[in-house]
Order: sequence, then C-alpha cells, then structure tokens
Amino acid sequence: MSAGDIPREFGNCRRIVLYGNPVLRTIARQIHSVTPEIAQLLTDLQATMMRKDGVGLAANQIGVPLTVFSLNPQAADCDRPPTCIINPQIIATEGEIENEEGCLSFPDIFEVVKRPEMVIVKGIDASGKELTLQATGILARAIIHEYEHLQGILFIDHLSELRRKLLESRLKELIEEEQKACG
Ligand code: CO
Repeated sequence: MSAGDIPREFGNCRRIVLYGNPVLRTIARQIHSVTPEIAQLLTDLQATMMRKDGVGLAANQIGVPLTVFSLNPQAADCDRPPTCIINPQIIATEGEIENEEGCLSFPDIFEVVKRPEMVIVKGIDASGKELTLQATGILARAIIHEYEHLQGILFIDHLSELRRKLLESRLKELIEEEQKACG
C-alpha cells in the first residue's frame, strides 16, 4: 500500500452538505502542511466519498473550505487506488467532451456538461509528497469538477439558462432541505 492510499476504515463518514450551503460557494484556503487534523480530514473525506460511491469529493462538500479533494479512480473504471490531492493545480487540459455529470451535493440531478477530455493535475498527496496525475474520461471529468468545487464553482454553473430554469424547483427543494439540516 502506498502512503497516499488511505484505508477507508480509518475515516469517519461525515455529512455531505447540499446545494444552498454557503460553504459550497466559498473559495477554499490552501493547506500549508499535513498536520494530524488535516490527516484526519483526508481520511474522513475519503471514507465519506467511498461510502457514497462517489468518484470524487471536495473538502468544502463536508463543510471544510480547504483546498483538497479525494478521488476514487476505481469508480471511474481506472485501476488506481483512492487518493487525496492537496492544493491541486490544473497543469494542462486537452480536447472537449460532453457527458452526463452529477454531484453528491445535488442528489438525483444529472446534467450534460462539456469538459476537457484529458487533464493533468499536480498537487500533494496525503504523505506530503508531490503528485502528478494524468487522466481521461470520467476521471478527468471528476478532477475538474472537484477542482472547481474548491473555487466555489458548481457543475450547474455550466448549464444553459433554460436547463437551470428546468431545475429550479428541485434546487429550491435542496436549499430548503439544507436549511433544515443546519437548523
Ligand atoms: Co460535486
């Protein structure tokens, strides 16, 4: 097992915030070092993602606006262990492809979004080592989706006005659900 590969049993499953929670619109802050608190955040992020069968999960989706996301390449048919990418930077993208996309903060909503076909992302792994990852297909889509979460950008921001309009009542429901959950 590599150092960046975190067993899910060490993490706690945390609540995933829904659309409407302001943390999803918060620009995440950089992580300066992997302290024990950050290490716990990473394991929790990964455990939560695995529990929900997500391809990726950004820290602000569990209420922590710090620049890290987790990825589960196996959920995208890619034979790599789950990993966390701290302070990710998109180094290169190539191509363009439309595909259906969802988000754990938007249960049951799937929309077609145009994304690059290939991405190269650089960051730091859970052991504090530099990591560069090249991905295509669903994994590339997930990396860009999670990267955008850290800037407060959501996948619905890419939809046409008409598509947004059609989703309006469902989005309102999510906002209400989130308000209830937060008391
Ligand atoms: Co998402």
